[in-house]
Amino acid sequence: MPEAPLLELAKVTLRFGGIQALSQVSFTLREGEVAALIGPNGAGKTSVFNCICGFYTPQEGEIRLRGTRVSGLKPHRVARLGVGRGFQNIELFGTLSCLDNVLLGRHLHVRAGVLGALFAPRAWWRDETAQRRRAEELLELLELQPYRNFPVLALPYGVQKLIEVARALASEPRLLLLDEPTAGMTAEEKDEMMFRLLRLRAELGITLLVIEHDLRVVSRLAERIIVLDYGVKIADGPPGAVQRDPEVIRAYLGDTRLAEVSA
Ligand SMILES: Nc1ncnc2c1ncn2[C@@H]1O[C@H](COP(=O)(O)OP(=O)(O)OP(=O)(O)O)[C@@H](O)[C@H]1O
Ligand SMILES: [Mg+2]
Repeated sequence: MPEAPLLELAKVTLRFGGIQALSQVSFTLREGEVAALIGPNGAGKTSVFNCICGFYTPQEGEIRLRGTRVSGLKPHRVARLGVGRGFQNIELFGTLSCLDNVLLGRHLHVRAGVLGALFAPRAWWRDETAQRRRAEELLELLELQPYRNFPVLALPYGVQKLIEVARALASEPRLLLLDEPTAGMTAEEKDEMMFRLLRLRAELGITLLVIEHDLRVVSRLAERIIVLDYGVKIADGPPGAVQRDPEVIRAYLGDTRLAEVSA
């Protein structure tokens, strides 16, 4: 039997009262794939992430990770199964340092807690040291070392976005979900972020699903683009084909951010 895909959404439907946020959305991601999820405002992109992570439970359909059903599980259980997430709006602890924010992201991996520190100090210390080492490695990988001791609030927006990525990676996910990691960035910062994400993928071998509005950026990053419009999947394929798809062009007509890209 072929191996189960890393992620599978099967006819996922999500409603908020009368609003149909997602209608029968299905797609799969292979291990190691880099895919983008695009669509106009309110299309349901963040809702897909919230369903995968266990923040919302779809009313219909199923979500599976390597063949195991995860829809209905609590967010911390899904995270433990290897899903990391960066948020659309930066959700870091502003007064804490860059390093501390990444360390907080590692709490999923810390085995020994306060009791461990009291009753098995040597084991606790080993664990703590290992956590710090890994957090430092992540800062290194994302070239965030120069900022490690600065409070996050004092750092430029682009750097904060990278710290979000480092924190999402801190729980050692196999699947990394990033919600508009380049929002609000200049074209140059966007290219830099894409470059770093591709390097991460190469070095860590993770699977990436990225929400992005800028088609130019997405086409450079992703080998596959999934398009949502009003909660419905309207296209799914390689960037070239998706950009030429008449349904996609129609859905995006009037979306100023796309207009910028095609100008
Ligand atoms: N918690 C909620 N309660 C009620 N409605 C919601 C909730 N979350 C999302 N929605 C609605 O579901 C639809 C999809 O929203 P979602 O945030 O997933 O879109 P999006 O594609 O991420 O949009 P954007 O590009 O603006 O981030 C919208 O109509 C939104 O108003
Ligand atoms: Mg969103």
